[in-house]
Amino acid sequence: MGSGTSTSATAWPFFRVLGNTKLKLLAVFLTVSTILLLTLYSSRGLSEDIAPGAKDEFTNEKDYWTWETSTRFQKPKHENDSDDTGNLQNATCDAFPSDMLSRIQIILKTSATEDPKRVDTHMASVTRCISNLLVISDKETELHGHRVHDILADLPPSARNQTPEFEAYEALQRGESNIDGAAGWKLDRFKFLPMVERAKKVNPGAEWYIFLETDTYFVWDNLFRMLEQFDPLFPLYMGSPAPGRDIGDGKVNWFAYGGSGFVLSRAAVDILVAREVGEYGQFIGPSISERYMQVVKDDCCGDSVLGFALYEKGIELSGMWPMFNAHPLDSIPFGDEHHWCQPAISMHKSQLGDMTGLADWEDERDRTKPLLYADLVDYHRLGQLSERKGWDNGAWGGIIEQPDTLPQHGSLEACRQACHDRDWCMSYTYDTAGVCVFVRSLRLGAKSKLEIAEQFTAGWDNDKIQSWRVNNTCEKPMWMKPSLTRIF
Ligand SMILES: *[C@@H]1O[C@H](CO)[C@@H](O)[C@H](O)[C@H]1NC(C)=O
Ligand SMILES: *[C@@H]1O[C@H](CO)[C@@H](O)[C@H](O)[C@H]1NC(C)=O
Ligand SMILES: *[C@@H]1O[C@H](CO)[C@@H](O)[C@H](O)[C@H]1NC(C)=O
Repeated sequence: MGSGTSTSATAWPFFRVLGNTKLKLLAVFLTVSTILLLTLYSSRGLSEDIAPGAKDEFTNEKDYWTWETSTRFQKPKHENDSDDTGNLQNATCDAFPSDMLSRIQIILKTSATEDPKRVDTHMASVTRCISNLLVISDKETELHGHRVHDILADLPPSARNQTPEFEAYEALQRGESNIDGAAGWKLDRFKFLPMVERAKKVNPGAEWYIFLETDTYFVWDNLFRMLEQFDPLFPLYMGSPAPGRDIGDGKVNWFAYGGSGFVLSRAAVDILVAREVGEYGQFIGPSISERYMQVVKDDCCGDSVLGFALYEKGIELSGMWPMFNAHPLDSIPFGDEHHWCQPAISMHKSQLGDMTGLADWEDERDRTKPLLYADLVDYHRLGQLSERKGWDNGAWGGIIEQPDTLPQHGSLEACRQACHDRDWCMSYTYDTAGVCVFVRSLRLGAKSKLEIAEQFTAGWDNDKIQSWRVNNTCEKPMWMKPSLTRIF
């Protein structure tokens, strides 16, 4: 849900650090950013990086699987059939593999303080076919035919009363409507543990529990293909890794960043929610929500505490970046080492138009093969775009050559030409303040800040992008193996 951060993908770790005063976390963040910068600036040409098999030059083991998977979606109907109803949404859900929903429980977390437009858009796109969607919030209501569960009611009132954040919760229950998103965000971290417990109670027979927020996009076909390759009786916790709580010896615990969505196997949930039982069969140990109440109060973020609780039960994160991604769709650096032949499973903070646009675009694909990042380039029509004024494609991973007296910094024409002259330059942004930014990856970018929109023009070297794509077709999908060293 909305955390108040900007849509830039690099902004989210900053937010977490601000919410947590621990210097160690900051140190880790700085290390992580350094690695990130080193990766950005030391990267070689695009095509060398992604050559399949390059990784196993020295060892025999690749860091990815090339599973042959098959879709669980049904074949799309003939054009004539959809003409009968004229209703795309119907046709869409006819193809959706609803039979999987008893085995795969999907849980959407929102807040009564959230922008209704975002929730409505999500339910009309990403979650439109999830008939048994479990909606978790901070107020009991109903949305598009789904019951919305007030999950915070599960926390003991005695614990709530001692927590200032719950004043906003009580106000929501009284029907007050002037509660702002910031107060909602502070309550948000209390939802994570009760949410897992509720999911287990609502669908105890599920093999997989999938958690997402209203700004998470899921490519269901890829998620389902991937889950079929794993045993739900193995304790699994999958998502995009982020550095969390201190666990001693200068180490941090890695948790699945909530905005990118995450997965828990049945075994992981069973281990997490297990409670001690007395001689009469009565629970004598606290629930996981009660046990971690104080930890949640002291932490900035519920996803971090969930990861910590799992860690204390012996379950470590399977880091699934970049398949689970914190980038919005328009910010993905297509063509870099991590975003080409890998299947895309999740994205974060995509624009509302992209939520609906991509869901519809996906439904028009035939789904014989998994959706790779390389395919998503067609959604953006990268390689066919003309220059855009008021646009910035170099806000992430851009390269500014020094000194600033270099000719490319002199004009848009010079910047465009200089990008063209460099084999590795695929996109560029020119700022009339006298800055030319080159981008190695195929990146759409977004509108530049309104105040300085007049200054920015972004462009793409279309011929080079098209030629690069022809040279770099994906023979097989790269389903990345779990890793906690391969991070954003
Ligand atoms: C659609 O229907 C028309 C007439 O009924 C038929 O000639 C045509 O082959 C059909 N098209 C498809 C794609 O099935
Ligand atoms: C199509 O949608 C309408 C309303 O959304 C519904 O009444 C109808 O039953 C649906 N048809 C099919 C075939 O699912
Ligand atoms: C694609 O391959 C051809 C032939 O090897 C080469 O001339 C061309 O520069 C390559 N294109 C890009 C963008 O790397």
